[in-house]
Amino acid sequence: MKSNGQGQSFATIDKERRIGSGIAVGMRIASYRFAGRGFRYWHYDANCGSGENEKIGVAGSPIVFWQVAYDCLRGLDPAPYFCDIDENAIRRLQQRLNNDPEASSRSVLLHGDNSDGLDTFANAIRRSGENRKYVVGSVLVDPNGYIYRNRHGGGVSIEKLQEFAYEFPRIDIILNLNVRIYKLQAAHNHNVIHPQQLLRSLKLHWLLGRAYVGQARFVLAVGRNVKTKPHEALGLVHWDSLDGQEIMALFEKSLGRPPRRRSIAPRQKLIIPEEGNYDIP
Ligand SMILES: C[S@@+](CC[C@H](N)C(=O)[O-])C[C@H]1O[C@@H](n2cnc3c(N)ncnc32)[C@H](O)[C@@H]1O
Repeated sequence: MKSNGQGQSFATIDKERRIGSGIAVGMRIASYRFAGRGFRYWHYDANCGSGENEKIGVAGSPIVFWQVAYDCLRGLDPAPYFCDIDENAIRRLQQRLNNDPEASSRSVLLHGDNSDGLDTFANAIRRSGENRKYVVGSVLVDPNGYIYRNRHGGGVSIEKLQEFAYEFPRIDIILNLNVRIYKLQAAHNHNVIHPQQLLRSLKLHWLLGRAYVGQARFVLAVGRNVKTKPHEALGLVHWDSLDGQEIMALFEKSLGRPPRRRSIAPRQKLIIPEEGNYDIP
């Protein structure tokens, strides 16, 4: 039987591989369509941590971003913004990036709240002169809990994320959602949004994968406005497939009663990119 430590390390490797895979598909599509045209690949990591899951020695999401960028990004400049509220984590991340001059010089490290960080990131894109409708990249949200903004400001602001998603429709969104915390928060009538509504309010298509870390169940969700192939080898399936519906049902089952639904009508209409097959031929 696996010890908890081993279980945690497998689950973390799994999570980082799925995050890497979600970013890799976006980078390949962007490289295929926009290489050499002066575009950047924008990336915002709202909960970047220190660059390493230190207890188990597994690379963290910023390092995964750079590994994937070196492997998959062609003809676009990476423009990653890494944010964390923990100053010490940001300091340790800077030290890790210092080993790689390109990563260090191109990464923007933000110490502070990820809602403010998202504003900084969005303003940087607006100032870049690139067309908002066409800018490409990804936003990763990987809090310890479910994504919501509690009165202590623990999660990202969902309203801000929605506004961001409508303004920049080609920037993918990757969420790591903790099912157990969602259940606890919903049971206490916290201001949580049902996952189905949350995902629908952000993107048209989602790939979902599940993971267990100790007793906590997580769902990793990769959202875009164009449909791409599932990554079955990594356990990422379309949300409208049978397996995908089973993963969504995890949230329903964890509640044991119908979820309290809130109206979260998008403030603007979803801008849907022109139709076409965006998978790499
Ligand atoms: C699960 S860890 C992130 C791990 C990282 N993404 C990785 O893959 O290695 C969650 C991080 O969120 C940070 N965090 C919590 N609340 C935050 C907030 N309001 N703004 C920014 N970061 C926050 C924590 O300091 C912690 O480093």
